[in-house]
Amino acid sequence: MTPLLPSIATDVVQWQASHGRNHLPWQQTRDPYRVWLSEIMLQQTQVTTVLGYYERFLQVFPDVASLAAAPEDDVMALWSGLGYYSRARNLHRCAKAVVAEHGGQFPRSAAVLATLPGIGRSTAAAIASFCFAERAAILDANVKRVLTRVLAYGEDLSSTRNEKALWQLAQELLPTQDLATSMPRYTQGLMDLGATICLPRNPSCLVCPLQAQCQAARQGNPASYPVKTRKTKRSSQAWWLLVLRDAQGHLALQRRPSSGGETGIWAGLFSPPVYASLQALDEALQALPLQQHTRQDWPAQLHVLTHRDLFLHPVVVDVQGVQPSLGAGDLPDWTWQSAQSWPQLGLPAPVRKLLEAI
Ligand code: ADE
Ligand code: SF4
Repeated sequence: MTPLLPSIATDVVQWQASHGRNHLPWQQTRDPYRVWLSEIMLQQTQVTTVLGYYERFLQVFPDVASLAAAPEDDVMALWSGLGYYSRARNLHRCAKAVVAEHGGQFPRSAAVLATLPGIGRSTAAAIASFCFAERAAILDANVKRVLTRVLAYGEDLSSTRNEKALWQLAQELLPTQDLATSMPRYTQGLMDLGATICLPRNPSCLVCPLQAQCQAARQGNPASYPVKTRKTKRSSQAWWLLVLRDAQGHLALQRRPSSGGETGIWAGLFSPPVYASLQALDEALQALPLQQHTRQDWPAQLHVLTHRDLFLHPVVVDVQGVQPSLGAGDLPDWTWQSAQSWPQLGLPAPVRKLLEAI
Protein backbone atom coordinates (compact mmCIF):
# COMPACT_ATOMS: atom_id res chain seq x y z
CA MET A 1 0.00 0.00 0.00
CA THR A 2 1.41 3.33 -1.03
CA PRO A 3 0.07 6.12 1.15
CA LEU A 4 -1.57 8.88 -0.84
CA LEU A 5 1.01 11.36 -2.03
CA PRO A 6 0.36 15.10 -2.03
CA SER A 7 -0.03 16.61 -5.48
CA ILE A 8 2.59 19.29 -5.72
CA ALA A 9 3.23 19.39 -9.47
CA THR A 10 0.65 22.05 -10.36
CA ASP A 11 1.72 24.33 -7.52
CA VAL A 12 5.39 24.00 -8.39
CA VAL A 13 4.70 24.69 -12.07
CA GLN A 14 2.53 27.77 -11.37
CA TRP A 15 4.97 29.16 -8.83
CA GLN A 16 7.89 28.66 -11.22
CA ALA A 17 6.13 30.66 -13.93
CA SER A 18 5.52 33.65 -11.66
CA HIS A 19 8.33 33.51 -9.07
CA GLY A 20 11.06 31.25 -10.44
CA ARG A 21 14.19 32.10 -12.39
CA ASN A 22 13.27 32.42 -16.07
CA HIS A 23 15.94 34.56 -17.67
CA LEU A 24 19.09 32.51 -17.31
CA PRO A 25 20.84 32.01 -20.68
CA TRP A 26 20.49 28.22 -20.64
CA GLN A 27 16.74 28.57 -20.18
CA GLN A 28 16.40 30.33 -23.53
CA THR A 29 17.24 27.17 -25.45
CA ARG A 30 16.33 23.51 -25.73
CA ASP A 31 19.61 22.63 -27.36
CA PRO A 32 20.78 19.67 -25.26
CA TYR A 33 24.43 20.69 -25.77
CA ARG A 34 23.84 24.05 -24.09
CA VAL A 35 21.61 22.64 -21.38
CA TRP A 36 24.09 19.86 -20.64
CA LEU A 37 26.99 22.34 -20.42
CA SER A 38 25.06 24.55 -18.00
CA GLU A 39 24.04 21.63 -15.79
CA ILE A 40 27.62 20.37 -15.51
CA MET A 41 28.90 23.87 -14.70
CA LEU A 42 26.12 24.43 -12.15
CA GLN A 43 26.79 21.18 -10.29
CA GLN A 44 29.34 22.69 -7.92
CA THR A 45 29.39 26.34 -8.92
CA GLN A 46 27.03 29.24 -8.28
CA VAL A 47 24.92 30.76 -11.03
CA THR A 48 26.66 34.16 -10.89
CA THR A 49 30.06 32.54 -11.47
CA VAL A 50 28.80 30.19 -14.17
CA LEU A 51 27.31 32.99 -16.34
CA GLY A 52 30.66 34.30 -17.60
CA TYR A 53 32.26 30.88 -18.03
CA TYR A 54 29.21 29.61 -19.92
CA GLU A 55 29.32 32.43 -22.48
CA ARG A 56 33.09 32.17 -23.01
CA PHE A 57 32.89 28.40 -23.38
CA LEU A 58 30.15 28.64 -26.02
CA GLN A 59 32.05 31.26 -28.00
CA VAL A 60 34.96 28.87 -28.37
CA PHE A 61 32.94 25.63 -28.55
CA PRO A 62 29.49 26.44 -30.03
CA ASP A 63 28.53 22.79 -30.50
CA VAL A 64 29.39 19.30 -29.40
CA ALA A 65 31.46 18.59 -32.53
CA SER A 66 33.83 21.51 -31.89
CA LEU A 67 34.24 20.47 -28.26
CA ALA A 68 34.89 16.84 -29.18
CA ALA A 69 37.56 17.89 -31.69
CA ALA A 70 39.41 20.22 -29.29
CA PRO A 71 42.70 19.43 -27.55
CA GLU A 72 42.14 18.71 -23.86
CA ASP A 73 44.40 21.64 -22.89
CA ASP A 74 42.02 24.13 -24.55
CA VAL A 75 39.08 22.68 -22.63
CA MET A 76 40.97 22.79 -19.34
CA ALA A 77 42.08 26.39 -19.98
CA LEU A 78 38.45 27.50 -20.42
CA TRP A 79 37.48 25.64 -17.24
CA SER A 80 40.36 27.12 -15.29
CA GLY A 81 39.01 28.73 -12.13
CA LEU A 82 35.73 26.79 -11.99
CA GLY A 83 37.30 24.02 -9.89
CA TYR A 84 36.41 20.33 -9.67
CA TYR A 85 38.32 19.67 -12.89
CA SER A 86 37.12 16.10 -13.27
CA ARG A 87 33.97 17.81 -14.55
CA ALA A 88 35.92 19.29 -17.46
CA ARG A 89 37.69 16.05 -18.30
CA ASN A 90 34.37 14.17 -18.27
CA LEU A 91 32.76 16.95 -20.31
CA HIS A 92 35.38 16.44 -23.00
CA ARG A 93 35.01 12.63 -22.85
CA CYS A 94 31.25 12.96 -23.04
CA ALA A 95 31.43 15.17 -26.15
CA LYS A 96 33.68 12.59 -27.82
CA ALA A 97 31.26 9.81 -26.90
CA VAL A 98 28.29 11.76 -28.30
CA VAL A 99 30.16 12.16 -31.59
CA ALA A 100 31.61 8.63 -31.75
CA GLU A 101 28.69 6.62 -30.42
CA HIS A 102 25.58 8.75 -31.03
CA GLY A 103 26.23 10.32 -34.42
CA GLY A 104 26.86 13.76 -32.91
CA GLN A 105 23.34 13.99 -31.41
CA PHE A 106 22.68 13.87 -27.69
CA PRO A 107 20.47 10.89 -26.77
CA ARG A 108 16.89 11.96 -26.07
CA SER A 109 16.14 9.82 -23.02
CA ALA A 110 17.35 10.18 -19.45
CA ALA A 111 18.23 6.48 -19.28
CA VAL A 112 20.64 6.71 -22.22
CA LEU A 113 21.99 10.14 -21.23
CA ALA A 114 22.95 8.63 -17.86
CA THR A 115 25.31 6.18 -19.60
CA LEU A 116 27.54 9.06 -20.77
CA PRO A 117 30.66 10.19 -18.86
CA GLY A 118 29.95 12.73 -16.12
CA ILE A 119 26.16 12.55 -16.48
CA GLY A 120 24.58 11.12 -13.34
CA ARG A 121 20.96 10.14 -12.93
CA SER A 122 19.78 13.57 -11.77
CA THR A 123 21.67 15.50 -14.45
CA ALA A 124 20.36 13.12 -17.11
CA ALA A 125 16.81 13.75 -15.90
CA ALA A 126 17.34 17.52 -15.88
CA ILE A 127 18.53 17.47 -19.51
CA ALA A 128 15.76 15.11 -20.65
CA SER A 129 13.03 17.09 -18.91
CA PHE A 130 14.30 20.50 -20.07
CA CYS A 131 14.98 19.54 -23.67
CA PHE A 132 12.60 16.67 -24.39
CA ALA A 133 9.88 17.09 -21.71
CA GLU A 134 10.50 13.57 -20.46
CA ARG A 135 8.80 12.58 -17.21
CA ALA A 136 12.09 12.01 -15.43
CA ALA A 137 12.70 13.00 -11.81
CA ILE A 138 15.70 15.01 -10.65
CA LEU A 139 17.05 14.48 -7.15
CA ASP A 140 20.08 16.60 -6.39
CA ALA A 141 20.88 17.77 -2.85
CA ASN A 142 18.52 20.78 -3.05
CA VAL A 143 15.63 18.73 -4.35
CA LYS A 144 16.21 16.02 -1.73
CA ARG A 145 15.77 18.72 0.88
CA VAL A 146 12.51 19.99 -0.61
CA LEU A 147 10.95 16.56 -1.12
CA THR A 148 11.98 15.00 2.21
CA ARG A 149 10.43 18.00 3.93
CA VAL A 150 7.21 18.01 1.93
CA LEU A 151 6.80 14.28 2.57
CA ALA A 152 8.32 14.30 6.08
CA TYR A 153 10.49 11.51 4.72
CA GLY A 154 12.56 10.66 7.79
CA GLU A 155 14.45 7.58 6.56
CA ASP A 156 18.22 7.74 6.51
CA LEU A 157 19.40 8.68 3.01
CA SER A 158 22.86 7.28 3.60
CA SER A 159 21.24 3.90 2.99
CA THR A 160 20.91 3.02 -0.70
CA ARG A 161 17.56 1.41 -0.14
CA ASN A 162 16.05 4.57 1.34
CA GLU A 163 17.59 6.74 -1.33
CA LYS A 164 16.04 4.48 -3.98
CA ALA A 165 12.66 4.75 -2.28
CA LEU A 166 12.91 8.55 -2.42
CA TRP A 167 13.72 8.39 -6.16
CA GLN A 168 10.55 6.35 -6.60
CA LEU A 169 8.50 8.94 -4.70
CA ALA A 170 10.09 11.75 -6.72
CA GLN A 171 9.04 9.95 -9.88
CA GLU A 172 5.44 9.58 -8.65
CA LEU A 173 5.21 13.31 -7.85
CA LEU A 174 5.96 14.38 -11.45
CA PRO A 175 3.38 16.24 -13.53
CA THR A 176 1.01 14.09 -15.55
CA GLN A 177 -0.46 16.70 -17.90
CA ASP A 178 0.78 19.20 -20.48
CA LEU A 179 4.22 17.65 -20.24
CA ALA A 180 5.72 19.80 -23.01
CA THR A 181 5.41 22.87 -20.82
CA SER A 182 4.97 21.39 -17.36
CA MET A 183 8.05 19.16 -17.23
CA PRO A 184 10.66 21.88 -17.88
CA ARG A 185 8.86 24.20 -15.47
CA TYR A 186 8.48 21.58 -12.78
CA THR A 187 12.16 20.59 -12.92
CA GLN A 188 13.27 24.22 -12.83
CA GLY A 189 10.70 24.99 -10.12
CA LEU A 190 12.06 22.34 -7.75
CA MET A 191 15.60 23.66 -8.34
CA ASP A 192 14.44 27.22 -7.69
CA LEU A 193 12.53 26.28 -4.53
CA GLY A 194 15.58 24.50 -3.18
CA ALA A 195 17.89 27.40 -4.06
CA THR A 196 15.73 30.33 -2.93
CA ILE A 197 12.93 29.21 -0.53
CA CYS A 198 13.49 25.83 1.05
CA LEU A 199 16.94 26.69 2.37
CA PRO A 200 18.94 24.39 4.66
CA ARG A 201 18.50 26.72 7.62
CA ASN A 202 15.48 29.00 8.04
CA PRO A 203 13.40 27.98 5.04
CA SER A 204 10.89 30.65 3.96
CA CYS A 205 7.82 28.49 4.56
CA LEU A 206 5.52 31.52 4.71
CA VAL A 207 6.07 32.32 1.05
CA CYS A 208 6.45 28.72 -0.12
CA PRO A 209 3.87 27.45 -2.63
CA LEU A 210 3.99 24.02 -0.98
CA GLN A 211 3.36 25.19 2.56
CA ALA A 212 -0.24 23.94 2.71
CA GLN A 213 0.88 20.43 1.74
CA CYS A 214 4.20 20.31 3.52
CA GLN A 215 4.35 17.75 6.32
CA ALA A 216 7.54 19.17 7.82
CA ALA A 217 6.07 22.69 7.94
CA ARG A 218 2.99 21.25 9.63
CA GLN A 219 5.17 19.46 12.19
CA GLY A 220 7.21 22.64 12.63
CA ASN A 221 10.54 20.88 12.02
CA PRO A 222 11.76 21.41 8.44
CA ALA A 223 15.36 21.53 9.65
CA SER A 224 15.13 17.85 10.71
CA TYR A 225 15.08 16.83 7.04
CA PRO A 226 16.79 15.30 5.20
CA VAL A 227 18.17 12.65 7.55
CA LYS A 228 21.67 11.55 6.66
CA THR A 229 23.75 9.87 9.35
CA ARG A 230 26.97 9.10 7.55
CA LYS A 231 29.16 12.04 8.31
CA THR A 232 31.85 13.01 5.85
CA LYS A 233 34.79 13.88 8.05
CA ARG A 234 36.77 16.88 6.98
CA SER A 235 40.47 16.39 6.73
CA SER A 236 43.28 18.80 6.11
CA GLN A 237 46.39 18.54 4.02
CA ALA A 238 49.40 20.73 3.33
CA TRP A 239 51.26 21.06 0.05
CA TRP A 240 54.51 22.91 -0.60
CA LEU A 241 54.85 24.57 -4.00
CA LEU A 242 58.28 25.27 -5.46
CA VAL A 243 57.86 28.47 -7.47
CA LEU A 244 61.01 28.89 -9.57
CA ARG A 245 61.28 32.24 -11.32
CA ASP A 246 64.07 33.54 -13.56
CA ALA A 247 65.30 37.10 -14.05
CA GLN A 248 62.70 37.78 -16.77
CA GLY A 249 59.77 36.41 -14.81
CA HIS A 250 59.59 33.01 -16.51
CA LEU A 251 58.10 30.37 -14.19
CA ALA A 252 58.99 26.67 -14.11
CA LEU A 253 55.63 24.93 -14.35
CA GLN A 254 54.79 21.28 -14.42
CA ARG A 255 51.83 19.57 -15.89
CA ARG A 256 50.04 17.41 -13.31
CA PRO A 257 49.60 13.83 -14.54
CA SER A 258 46.10 13.39 -15.96
CA SER A 259 45.85 9.63 -15.66
CA GLY A 260 47.51 6.77 -13.91
CA GLY A 261 47.70 6.02 -10.21
CA GLU A 262 47.70 9.39 -8.48
CA THR A 263 45.61 11.75 -10.59
CA GLY A 264 44.56 14.16 -7.86
CA ILE A 265 42.47 17.27 -7.89
CA TRP A 266 44.61 19.20 -10.39
CA ALA A 267 45.10 16.40 -12.92
CA GLY A 268 45.92 17.76 -16.37
CA LEU A 269 46.46 21.30 -15.12
CA PHE A 270 49.68 23.29 -14.81
CA SER A 271 51.23 24.05 -11.44
CA PRO A 272 54.57 24.69 -9.81
CA PRO A 273 56.04 21.38 -8.59
CA VAL A 274 54.14 20.15 -5.52
CA TYR A 275 55.71 18.45 -2.49
CA ALA A 276 54.06 16.76 0.47
CA SER A 277 56.49 18.27 2.98
CA LEU A 278 58.91 21.15 3.34
CA GLN A 279 61.70 18.60 3.67
CA ALA A 280 60.80 17.02 0.32
CA LEU A 281 60.83 20.45 -1.32
CA ASP A 282 64.21 21.30 0.26
CA GLU A 283 65.71 18.06 -1.01
CA ALA A 284 64.42 18.67 -4.53
CA LEU A 285 65.72 22.23 -4.45
CA GLN A 286 69.17 21.16 -3.26
CA ALA A 287 69.39 18.61 -6.05
CA LEU A 288 68.91 21.32 -8.68
CA PRO A 289 72.09 22.75 -10.24
CA LEU A 290 71.23 26.35 -9.30
CA GLN A 291 73.67 29.22 -9.37
CA GLN A 292 72.93 32.11 -7.06
CA HIS A 293 69.35 32.40 -5.97
CA THR A 294 67.19 33.98 -3.31
CA ARG A 295 64.36 32.27 -1.50
CA GLN A 296 61.20 33.48 0.19
CA ASP A 297 58.90 31.19 2.18
CA TRP A 298 55.42 32.62 1.86
CA PRO A 299 52.63 32.18 4.41
CA ALA A 300 50.22 29.33 3.69
CA GLN A 301 47.11 30.03 1.61
CA LEU A 302 43.99 28.08 2.57
CA HIS A 303 42.04 26.45 -0.25
CA VAL A 304 38.72 24.97 0.91
CA LEU A 305 37.54 21.82 -0.89
CA THR A 306 34.39 19.79 -0.30
CA HIS A 307 35.94 17.25 2.04
CA ARG A 308 39.21 18.83 3.05
CA ASP A 309 41.13 21.98 3.76
CA LEU A 310 44.20 22.32 1.59
CA PHE A 311 47.01 24.54 2.88
CA LEU A 312 49.28 25.72 0.08
CA HIS A 313 52.78 26.84 1.13
CA PRO A 314 54.55 28.70 -1.70
CA VAL A 315 58.33 28.79 -1.62
CA VAL A 316 59.44 31.38 -4.16
CA VAL A 317 62.97 30.89 -5.51
CA ASP A 318 64.38 33.61 -7.79
CA VAL A 319 67.21 32.20 -9.86
CA GLN A 320 69.85 34.20 -11.72
CA GLY A 321 69.89 34.36 -15.50
CA VAL A 322 67.23 33.56 -18.03
CA GLN A 323 65.67 30.11 -18.29
CA PRO A 324 68.70 28.38 -16.76
CA SER A 325 68.97 24.66 -17.29
CA LEU A 326 67.73 22.82 -14.22
CA GLY A 327 68.21 19.18 -15.21
CA ALA A 328 65.21 17.20 -16.31
CA GLY A 329 65.35 14.36 -13.78
CA ASP A 330 64.52 16.41 -10.72
CA LEU A 331 61.41 18.18 -12.03
CA PRO A 332 59.68 15.78 -14.39
CA ASP A 333 57.64 17.21 -17.24
CA TRP A 334 58.28 20.88 -16.49
CA THR A 335 58.83 23.81 -18.81
CA TRP A 336 59.72 27.47 -18.46
CA GLN A 337 56.67 29.60 -19.18
CA SER A 338 56.98 33.30 -19.94
CA ALA A 339 55.07 35.98 -18.06
CA GLN A 340 52.83 36.25 -21.16
CA SER A 341 52.25 32.52 -21.59
CA TRP A 342 51.59 31.19 -18.10
CA PRO A 343 48.36 33.13 -17.50
CA GLN A 344 46.90 31.47 -20.65
CA LEU A 345 47.42 27.95 -19.29
CA GLY A 346 44.89 25.82 -17.46
CA LEU A 347 45.80 26.63 -13.86
CA PRO A 348 43.90 25.73 -10.68
CA ALA A 349 42.25 28.90 -9.34
CA PRO A 350 44.27 29.00 -6.08
CA VAL A 351 47.52 28.55 -8.05
CA ARG A 352 46.59 31.36 -10.42
CA LYS A 353 45.83 33.63 -7.47
CA LEU A 354 49.07 32.75 -5.80
CA LEU A 355 51.17 33.27 -8.94
CA GLU A 356 49.50 36.63 -9.55
CA ALA A 357 50.38 37.67 -5.98
CA ILE A 358 54.09 36.85 -5.97
N1 ADE B 1 21.47 24.47 -10.73
C1 ADE B 1 21.46 23.32 -11.40
N2 ADE B 1 20.70 23.43 -12.52
C2 ADE B 1 20.24 24.70 -12.54
C3 ADE B 1 19.43 25.43 -13.43
N3 ADE B 1 18.94 24.87 -14.52
N4 ADE B 1 19.15 26.71 -13.15
C4 ADE B 1 19.66 27.27 -12.03
N5 ADE B 1 20.42 26.64 -11.15
C5 ADE B 1 20.72 25.36 -11.41
FE1 SF4 C 1 10.42 23.77 2.47
FE2 SF4 C 1 8.93 25.18 4.18
FE3 SF4 C 1 8.17 24.92 1.64
FE4 SF4 C 1 8.05 22.85 3.30
S1 SF4 C 1 6.89 24.75 3.42
S2 SF4 C 1 8.86 22.83 1.22
S3 SF4 C 1 9.86 23.20 4.54
S4 SF4 C 1 10.02 25.97 2.41
